[in-house]
Amino acid sequence: MSVQRRKLYHCTTNANSQTKMRPPLSLYICVVAVFRATHGLDNGLALTPPMGFLSWERFGCNVDCQRDPDNCISERLYRSIADVMVSDGYRDLGYVYVNIDDCWSAKSRDQQGNLQPDPDRFPSGMLNLSSYMHSRGLKLGIYGDVGTETCGGYPGSQNFLQQDAQTFADWGIDLLKFDGCHSSRENLAKYYPEMSRQLNRTGRSILYSCSWASYDILNTQRMYESNKKYCNTWRNFFDIQDSWRSVLEVIFYYGIDLGNFSGVAGPGGFNDPDQLVIGDFSLSYDQEKVQFGMWAMFAAPLYISADLRTMRPEAKAILQNRNVIAINQDPRGQQASFQIKIENIQVWTKALSFPGSYAIAFLNPESGGTPTSVTLTLSQIKLTNQNGYNISDVFDDTPIGTYKIADKFSISVNPEGIVLLKIVPL
Ligand SMILES: *[C@@H]1O[C@H](CO)[C@@H](O)[C@H](O)[C@H]1NC(C)=O
Ligand SMILES: *[C@@H]1O[C@H](CO)[C@@H](O)[C@H](O)[C@H]1NC(C)=O
Ligand SMILES: *[C@@H]1O[C@H](CO)[C@@H](O)[C@H](O)[C@H]1NC(C)=O
Repeated sequence: MSVQRRKLYHCTTNANSQTKMRPPLSLYICVVAVFRATHGLDNGLALTPPMGFLSWERFGCNVDCQRDPDNCISERLYRSIADVMVSDGYRDLGYVYVNIDDCWSAKSRDQQGNLQPDPDRFPSGMLNLSSYMHSRGLKLGIYGDVGTETCGGYPGSQNFLQQDAQTFADWGIDLLKFDGCHSSRENLAKYYPEMSRQLNRTGRSILYSCSWASYDILNTQRMYESNKKYCNTWRNFFDIQDSWRSVLEVIFYYGIDLGNFSGVAGPGGFNDPDQLVIGDFSLSYDQEKVQFGMWAMFAAPLYISADLRTMRPEAKAILQNRNVIAINQDPRGQQASFQIKIENIQVWTKALSFPGSYAIAFLNPESGGTPTSVTLTLSQIKLTNQNGYNISDVFDDTPIGTYKIADKFSISVNPEGIVLLKIVPL
């Protein structure tokens, strides 16, 4: 939860073919290097994008445990998801955060003003739940709100920042998603940093996931730098929905990159385009690959919001693709930028930590029945190594060959599909 839609950004990345949206790659890297000097939140966390589960998109604010005991927001839900994260191999691939979203708490604080979990849905308490996670090699995330109430109408933290930070630390919480409902621009700017200080003061390492940027879209570099200074991740764009349209809107927004937010991302602080809806109700197999591939390119947090207990095997295979995860987790932490459009194919580049190497995404945002084949040279996408490059397919983990920068090669991209390449200098 829950940024309401305000205004749809006009999707101008789709307009002209062959349009250069960016300075040459070498210049761009130079700019990024300057942004890297921006100091991020110094709590040792999120050096690569965090991975795990987040309940909101799939399970929402379902509090009806009488009617729907397996899916309501309760300790039972988070334990059963955690069990699958361990038994089905998600944890061992890096998906370690089990994140509770809104609607977990009682409707009021206790007599000392402490937050308390809903006693019927979390009868064993939060410390018990965090112990459950920790004993399984997982981490527990919780949700709060910087304003007077959460988006779902539960108690907010505005006048209780120190007390709530201490409560979360006492409960053994590892991540706080801090929403921005029922606040104001001034209060967001005052209380997001204040909660960052209060979390630090508890002495417990708690990953701080802010929604500040989503509630105050000024689109200035300075705004994103403030987010990086106080937060480990910051939601950037509306709440994602389980639809192709919603996934595409996020991708276009990250292509426009208003305020140059891509340049602020790096180890310790990442833009958060919201949850993965892979394995839910609406995306096709190719569309699911698009979301996973592009979120990897964005160096985005990978929070699965799906019912892991009933996941389709092909969706699980996408989420567990080690090669794609490795692109997301590359220690350089660079966010991809949109380069050019060739026919209807968007070309995106993400510099990787191995010197001179890149992940390149070829994204076909359009339907149209038949794959699009494009022919290009590496020099067309600003690659400059005269000895050439080794190219491999990331999703399929297959070598494609070695190419000089002037050699032509062809890529065929399915409608509403993606091809992800890794390009390593020879
Ligand atoms: C608190 O901040 C200091 C200085 O920025 C940092 O060195 C320390 O690791 C932080 N502690 C926690 C628990 O985040
Ligand atoms: C947590 O709660 C469960 C069930 O309520 C109980 O069996 C278990 O002993 C508790 N564990 C801890 C560490 O308190
Ligand atoms: C983004 O960066 C470009 C080039 O570095 C610059 O021209 C532009 O003014 C920047 N825009 C913002 C909003 O900072």
